[in-house]
Amino acid sequence: MKINNPFSSILLISFFSIFFTKSIADVMFLNVVNFGAKSDSKTDSSYAFSSAWDLACNSSKSSTIYIPKGNFLVKQVYFKGKCNNNAIIFRIDGTIVAPFDYNVIGNEKIGFYFKVLMVFQFLVVILMDKDLVYGLAKTLGFSNSNNVSITGLTSLNSQMFHIVINGCKSVKMQGVKVYAPGESPNTDGIHVQLSSEISILNSIISTGDDCISIGPGTTNLWIQNVACGPGHGISIGSLAKDFEEAGVQNVTVKSVMFMNTQNGVRIKTWGRPSTGFVNNVLFQHVTMIDVQNPIVIDQNYCPYNKNCPGQSRVSATRVAMKFDCSKRNPCKGIKLEDVNLSYKNEPAAEASCANVAGTTTGVIQPTSCL
Ligand SMILES: *[C@@H]1O[C@H](CO)[C@@H](O)[C@H](O)[C@H]1NC(C)=O
Ligand SMILES: *[C@@H]1O[C@H](CO)[C@@H](O)[C@H](O)[C@H]1NC(C)=O
Ligand SMILES: *[C@@H]1O[C@H](CO)[C@@H](O)[C@H](O)[C@H]1NC(C)=O
Ligand SMILES: *[C@@H]1O[C@H](CO)[C@@H](O)[C@H](O)[C@H]1NC(C)=O
Repeated sequence: MKINNPFSSILLISFFSIFFTKSIADVMFLNVVNFGAKSDSKTDSSYAFSSAWDLACNSSKSSTIYIPKGNFLVKQVYFKGKCNNNAIIFRIDGTIVAPFDYNVIGNEKIGFYFKVLMVFQFLVVILMDKDLVYGLAKTLGFSNSNNVSITGLTSLNSQMFHIVINGCKSVKMQGVKVYAPGESPNTDGIHVQLSSEISILNSIISTGDDCISIGPGTTNLWIQNVACGPGHGISIGSLAKDFEEAGVQNVTVKSVMFMNTQNGVRIKTWGRPSTGFVNNVLFQHVTMIDVQNPIVIDQNYCPYNKNCPGQSRVSATRVAMKFDCSKRNPCKGIKLEDVNLSYKNEPAAEASCANVAGTTTGVIQPTSCL
């Protein structure tokens, strides 16, 4: 997949900090400038970053890796464990800039990747992503990391997913800002998979793909006070791509606003056999403004119409609520309460239902088809 998006060639992270609570006494303070990093936007500071990391990681003292004001070019960084340290803080006052040339990024798969190989309390390791699903750069990834807190991160114009949380436990993201053009492909804001106890709070995401995408094996995810748009909404899925797949359980999405998005809240699974499932999901206090498909459950996702036995599509237009579930594994226990969606200030055109069972309470506009 080649993406030639002129907007995606700059990667910029500013005010990115991982905070852990620890008294500041007895903290090793590592300024990347002292390791040779240069804030001139053009000297590759990757080695300086990883040198600072090595020192922090090898020490048992709480450490702060400090990136001062200025633009630091970072091409390729491995931050990996196992570490002796259980409290490493990244404090970024500056901006981390990716190479301008798209091809450099594409070939070298630049990104920040945190990976904990051996888990200690508060241990975080950054590792460049070598397993890129689409062969392009993600901005920031956490893999097998526990007890991570990300506060005040701004990620601008990632080539691919901005932030990826994979195989993690207890990650708290707050005040995250993600920006990419509405027409930039595959630039999901935050992607979570195979992870539990994840929260995303008080954040703003404007991007070309899902604002938040929730992959297989996600449990106990809490999303609150998030503004999404432009973008493709908050999506559970695509799931069931593989036959053997962990389910998604206990997802709460609360007080979110969608503005000018393709979808609002969505659950999307491939129309083919899988061990995957979705259980216990709450979407509450959701505001939709200029949203094309506000509420969607689609169990018949099959973009190339291949290997999806029994798949059937419900075709619909101007549908505000769409439940397109599978005949073999219908959607059950859907509860709608106080839904009020209108289309161009008129009552919404319609709701569409296939193989879905549930109940309604309160105002339901458009008229429910459950
Ligand atoms: C940290 O420890 C590893 C493994 O023992 C070693 O390879 C590396 O050189 C050390 N780095 C520093 C900065 O001491
Ligand atoms: C994460 O933090 C909690 C308490 O803050 C602690 O009990 C737990 O052991 C930590 N987990 C890991 C894997 O470090
Ligand atoms: C669901 O997840 C939330 C955190 O998002 C947690 O507080 C709650 O205990 C979980 N509920 C169950 C039944 O596991
Ligand atoms: C539904 O929303 C419309 C437009 O926002 C509003 O005029 C109407 O009063 C609402 N209906 C109910 C029952 O809340």
